[in-house]
Amino acid sequence: MTARKIIIDTDPGQDDAVAILLALASPKEIEVLGITAVAGNVPLELTQKNALIICELSGKTNVKVFAGCDRPLRRDLVTAEHVHGKTGLDGPVLPDPKIQLQDQHAVDFIIDTLRECAAGTVTLCPLGPLTNIAAAFEKAPELIKKVQEIVLMGGAYFEVGNITPAAEFNIYVDPQAAQIIFRSGVPITVLPLDVTHKALVTKKRNDAFRNLASPVGIAVAQMTDFFERFDIKKYGSEGAPLHDPCVIAYLINPDLFSGRHVNVEIETQSELTLGMTVADWWGVTDRPPNAMFISDLDADGFFSLLTERLAML
Ligand code: BDR
Ligand code: CA
Repeated sequence: MTARKIIIDTDPGQDDAVAILLALASPKEIEVLGITAVAGNVPLELTQKNALIICELSGKTNVKVFAGCDRPLRRDLVTAEHVHGKTGLDGPVLPDPKIQLQDQHAVDFIIDTLRECAAGTVTLCPLGPLTNIAAAFEKAPELIKKVQEIVLMGGAYFEVGNITPAAEFNIYVDPQAAQIIFRSGVPITVLPLDVTHKALVTKKRNDAFRNLASPVGIAVAQMTDFFERFDIKKYGSEGAPLHDPCVIAYLINPDLFSGRHVNVEIETQSELTLGMTVADWWGVTDRPPNAMFISDLDADGFFSLLTERLAML
């Protein structure tokens, strides 16, 4: 089996950090061509730094990290320090990175990679607002058809919203970018809140990270310790949902997940429901399906995979 080539587009974020670690720990299944940072959970200055910090923590210091867009395509940036803390990676104390950003802009890296690789061999994995990917699609529309798949964390149907009553954070921050992606014709798999809210770090699962007793295991336990206070208070849940690692786990073992191939449209006009992912779950329109919308996972299988892989770093 050859490793699947991916670009991780991300706004770390504790859960983004765990997703990056999972990908870097899985070289048999996944080849990370590059990590592109975008503004989202915190401003770009911090997300790009956090991406470097995580690569260094993983020990894979040759991974290329690129800085991308510092604001959504057509509106002001909304951030989520109330969830992720001031740095975006609050929890562990991690050293400033020694490795450096690449000089190239993330959008140009995405474009050049698609241009150079054979059609259908590069998967894009957005874990934050979709600004970088949409900017690449706007700048080089002829390359859209070369994308193998987009596997993204974003949106919600039954869970509705987390940043507003109607919208999930990643889609809400840049709904115009999300609309470009969902209308692109590229095969899309969506890991929405409906599934990520079932990937909860319970005390036992967090202990399993900590008991790895490695710098990675301890840092992941400390990140989820920090991250969970917000969700426990808000939802009364057992622990933090590990949203973004669901994307990488799906690539490694799609059998852990299930969902439906449905039509998904993005609300870009309404003030009240801006960024809503209108998923035709019940097939009540004749709009053609454009996304595999995941709704369920084998949570124990997911956490075994994650813990087993983190142990390899
Ligand atoms: C998404 O928003 C961010 O807070 C997380 O990193 C995740 O990508 C969940 O709504
Ligand atoms: Ca994220």
